[in-house]
Amino acid sequence: MIKITPAEFTVFAKYILKISGIFLQKGKEYLIETRIGPLLKEFSCSSFTQLHKKSSSELIKNIEKKIIDAISTNETYFFRDSTPFKLLQHKIIPDLIDKKNRKSKNKPSSTIRIWSAACSTGQEIYSIAIILDELNLNPPKFNIQLLGTDISNTVIAQASYGKYNKFEVDRGLPAPKREKFFTSSEDNTWRIKDKLRANVNFKKMNLIVDSFDSLGKFDIIFCRNVAIYFTSEDRKKLFNKLCKSLEPDGYFLIGSTESIAADAPFFKPKRYLKSVYYEIE
Ligand SMILES: C[S@@+](CC[C@H](N)C(=O)[O-])C[C@H]1O[C@@H](n2cnc3c(N)ncnc32)[C@H](O)[C@@H]1O
Repeated sequence: MIKITPAEFTVFAKYILKISGIFLQKGKEYLIETRIGPLLKEFSCSSFTQLHKKSSSELIKNIEKKIIDAISTNETYFFRDSTPFKLLQHKIIPDLIDKKNRKSKNKPSSTIRIWSAACSTGQEIYSIAIILDELNLNPPKFNIQLLGTDISNTVIAQASYGKYNKFEVDRGLPAPKREKFFTSSEDNTWRIKDKLRANVNFKKMNLIVDSFDSLGKFDIIFCRNVAIYFTSEDRKKLFNKLCKSLEPDGYFLIGSTESIAADAPFFKPKRYLKSVYYEIE
């Protein structure tokens, strides 16, 4: 394995921060060596300096995409941490529907918009889609608009295809839900059924540099297990942008081990059973 020198680490960590927002502090040299090291051979480079030069001068950004894929942690699974989904099912969605019903008495349908920001391979947004279906919030009575975004082309492609291997469907997805919402193939893979897939859109988006203006406002935003990789300054900017993308009476959810008190004081925590969600103050 080719080692990264201290000078190369400084340059490479700065480059990764610029292209992905992911902040690698000193001590994370092994991450670059183990995750990005294999790209040296793939792109015929003898050092990290050479790979950096090749990547930053490449117009089609093929190497840059591969570096982002390699350095980002895509860990996810269906109904991850379970409590946010119970919260959604038993508190947030019923409250939201009450509010919508009060607001749109004479309108035939209500729109529900939910965003999984940093959706990885899609398990989070499909878990949400399953809950909505089980609550009978289906078209045409409800106009369900679910969005999953991620910086990585590779995970967005898998999410969009909605196909999972045995290991992936066995993580967090109860067998009855798997049978109801997925179609199995002979190669031991499961694909999300069209009925759910039809309500979900996927888009490549960098949470740090991209504007969210074109996305419109959401009733609920999940932004879980991604902001931990950013600098405090970038987290502040991100939470500000997300706040602007949320309906004034919307709901915001972060990962169970994350905290936003220092970076986003305008989000007020609300407790329900054993979980926390946030509302705009
Ligand atoms: C650990 S996964 C979290 C997936 C899901 N939200 C969950 O909690 O199960 C983090 C995801 O964030 C994405 N990511 C990293 N930096 C990003 C950025 N700047 N913009 C958008 N997505 C990013 C990665 O590609 C990865 O898929």
